[in-house]
Amino acid sequence: MSLPPRLGYPDLGLGVGLRSTHFRHILSEWPVVDWFEVISENFLDSQGRPRDVLEQVAERYPVVMHGVSLSIGSTDPLDLEYLAKLAALAEQTGARWVSDHLCWTGVAGRNTHDLLPIPFNEETLAHVVERLRVVQDVLQRPFVLENPSSYVTFADSTIPEWEFLSRVAEEADCGLLLDVNNVYVSSVNHDFDPVEYIERVPHERIVQFHLAGHTDCGTHCIDTHDGPVIDPVWNLYARARQLAGDVSTLLEWDASIPEFAVVHAEVQKARQHYRSSDDFRRGGDSPRRERGLRESGRTSVPGHPAVSNPVSFLMPDPN
Ligand SMILES: [Fe+2]
Repeated sequence: MSLPPRLGYPDLGLGVGLRSTHFRHILSEWPVVDWFEVISENFLDSQGRPRDVLEQVAERYPVVMHGVSLSIGSTDPLDLEYLAKLAALAEQTGARWVSDHLCWTGVAGRNTHDLLPIPFNEETLAHVVERLRVVQDVLQRPFVLENPSSYVTFADSTIPEWEFLSRVAEEADCGLLLDVNNVYVSSVNHDFDPVEYIERVPHERIVQFHLAGHTDCGTHCIDTHDGPVIDPVWNLYARARQLAGDVSTLLEWDASIPEFAVVHAEVQKARQHYRSSDDFRRGGDSPRRERGLRESGRTSVPGHPAVSNPVSFLMPDPN
């Protein structure tokens, strides 16, 4: 049986992330924006101004909830209290869907506050699928899984990331939030072809796109969300849009955030990429090779503070 586009969920248009630095502007100007995405954790335990702002925004705009604490890849039990809070907030805001990342954020009850990569193999695939089924049962709301950017890979990985993500979505029967910038960042860091990734994920399951800027460190890229989208990412977006059709698109800008109009204008550039994307590169080298990097196997700079490092987290606590 063929699936409807976006699993039948709506195309909300071009949205931006709701950030506190823009609260005053939004509440006074009520800008013409298609929709907002909110970071769930910024509002879950708030009964003060953030929650009040969210309620006002949700009355006027479609809202989607985007989380960073689900830790679907962890071996810790799922946090049912957290899921209950998510479900309650989704109910109150009328969130069209709830999303989080294919990652783990902690273990043994400790939270790294980082989106850490998992090994891509049959064992972790079955683990994630089982947990996603539970999550969807508890939430009773559409759940959408995002590909995170990453800086390390595992010797135990036996499945390409795009295939792992696709099989997880199909076996758990959930939607995909395809972060096109994350595909690009990881393709540089791990030397894979981002176009192949975009072309091979199940397009009918793509419910949402993310776009963002990143930091190019020469030897690797970091997903910093601190600037405009670069042209190679726009080209990937054009290809993804060509394959998946009209899909809700959201710009993430989380550091050095400019005024609201600048953020909004950046996402509206997406309209220029709805056309057929004849100009994207096919069959070329990966971004890493195009940049002339040595295939040293090293994917991060030792000691760089911005790069996730699950190994250091797992070091025994000296206390
Ligand atoms: Fe994202």
